Amino acid sequence: MIGRLNHVAIAVPDLDAAAAQYRNTLGANVGPAQDEPDHGVTVIFIELPNTKIELLYPLGDDSPINGFLAKNPAGGIHHICYEVEDITVARDHLVAEGARVLGDIKIGAHNKPVLFLHPKDFNGTLIELEQV
Ligand code: CO
Repeated sequence: MIGRLNHVAIAVPDLDAAAAQYRNTLGANVGPAQDEPDHGVTVIFIELPNTKIELLYPLGDDSPINGFLAKNPAGGIHHICYEVEDITVARDHLVAEGARVLGDIKIGAHNKPVLFLHPKDFNGTLIELEQV
C-alpha cells in the first residue's frame, strides 16, 4: 500500500540556523519558509535527489511541535512521510487493521491530503501518509 518515502521531517529549535546549515554546510537545495496555520508549524522543504527533508518549527503557542522541542531541545526526527495512491482507502485499511489514525484527513503542506498514524502503533515512529 505505501509507496515512496516522500519526506523525513526534522523539528528544529532555530529555523534560520537549520536552513543555513543545510544550504551552506550540507550544500542542499533549500526552499522558502512557509507558514502552515492549520498544522501549527512553519516548514522549509529541502529537495534531495531521492526525497525531501521537511524542517519543522512551531507556529503559535499550541503548536504540536512545542512539546516535541521541550523534550528534544536540540531538535530531532519528528515524522516520516510515505506516499499512498488513495488516502481514504489507506485510512480504511489501517483502521480495519487496528491502527490508530490521529484526527481527520487534512490538507498538508503540499496541498495534498494527509493523515497521521499513532507512533505507538508503528515502533515509536510518527507516520504521515500523503496522497500523491
Ligand atoms: Co510532513
